[in-house]
Amino acid sequence: MPVSLADLLSPAGQDLLARAEALAGGDPLRAAAQLRTAGTPPELASEALTQAALRLKGRAKFGADADGMYFTRAGLEQATRASVSARRAARLAAAGVRSVADLGCGIGADSRAFARAGITVHAIEADPATAEIATANTAGLPVTVTCGDATEVDLSGYDAVFCDPARRSGNRRIFDPKAYSPPWDFIVSLTTRPAVIKLGPGIDHALLPATAEAEWVSVGGEVVEAALWCDRLAEVPRRATVDELQMTGAGDREAEVGEVGRYVYDPDGAVIRAHLVAELADELGARIADPTIAYLYADELRATPFARGYTVEEVLPFSLKRLRAALREREVGRLTIKKRGSALEPESLRRQLRLSGSQEATVILTRVAGAPVALITQPAPAA
Ligand SMILES: C[S@@+](CC[C@H](N)C(=O)[O-])C[C@H]1O[C@@H](n2cnc3c(N)ncnc32)[C@H](O)[C@@H]1O
Repeated sequence: MPVSLADLLSPAGQDLLARAEALAGGDPLRAAAQLRTAGTPPELASEALTQAALRLKGRAKFGADADGMYFTRAGLEQATRASVSARRAARLAAAGVRSVADLGCGIGADSRAFARAGITVHAIEADPATAEIATANTAGLPVTVTCGDATEVDLSGYDAVFCDPARRSGNRRIFDPKAYSPPWDFIVSLTTRPAVIKLGPGIDHALLPATAEAEWVSVGGEVVEAALWCDRLAEVPRRATVDELQMTGAGDREAEVGEVGRYVYDPDGAVIRAHLVAELADELGARIADPTIAYLYADELRATPFARGYTVEEVLPFSLKRLRAALREREVGRLTIKKRGSALEPESLRRQLRLSGSQEATVILTRVAGAPVALITQPAPAA
């Protein structure tokens, strides 16, 4: 018997889901057997257990809200986490947007956030089962979900459009925008109207329209997405949003090149991807030591949420022998290896270093004026 979401939404289905949730996280075979002993058809028991497991996983993106949501595995993976969609929705609402067409709404995570920010949403989703889930996830909110092709929707009646194209095919992640769905040509056609387009963080800057604002977002140190803000929604050329804090700039400046200093900063990935390293260098009174590498150096330590700071204890021209000797002398047994601009493979280097000792250090493998160096560092104290 094929199972539909409606089976789970019925009172008996809700009861089953509650029992599945109580068993989630334990032995899956035993949980399935326990649900089936109550006379539940195996397919329904299996669907309830899948939903319960996905809700548990969904807490990382949606917190306690996940416990009232429905997911597909792919839908959860592609969904925007709640903190990011809420901030996006708040910015749209602040820009006066009252209605949005969500073109390819998936399980409806962004639609929920728009609606919660007071925006009326028309959500369009090509996959029927996913559209059903989006409907359930937006119940009670000003959201209408339609199952259909987003490229055929008349967009004239909306204050803004949002498009988060599918960047997966089966289990594979797609990096080539030309393979996105809805297709890239359609996405480009949206950029001449008030639109927000979510993209993979690795998007090629050359593909970005000159008039759009491009934002890179990182959460807890991981760059999770890029977003294009188009037409009147664009405020600046480039923006890096690091957790709740933002840095903006032109995105086309080069940081001043100089010497290694007492401190080295490793900028957040969103700052690097947004090409805002020069702006961060200004904030920190810092410089780069190689024109192509985004480590920043300074002689005084300044507090910043946009980079991690390290105290430089020693700068060595790279040589395995010299690095090994220096770490031995410091009795370093636990080593964090960071690198940028080095082809060395950290784990194989770690084996070759044959570390022993009670001390800890961070080695940064990089280049200074083109030459390979190893910096022996310690995480800097909070400035
Ligand atoms: C990345 S997901 C959207 C995730 C959503 N923003 C969220 O946070 O839940 C993209 C969705 O677009 C849908 N899609 C792809 N091409 C489409 C098209 N031409 N029309 C409508 N939906 C489409 C896919 O089925 C997929 O569910």
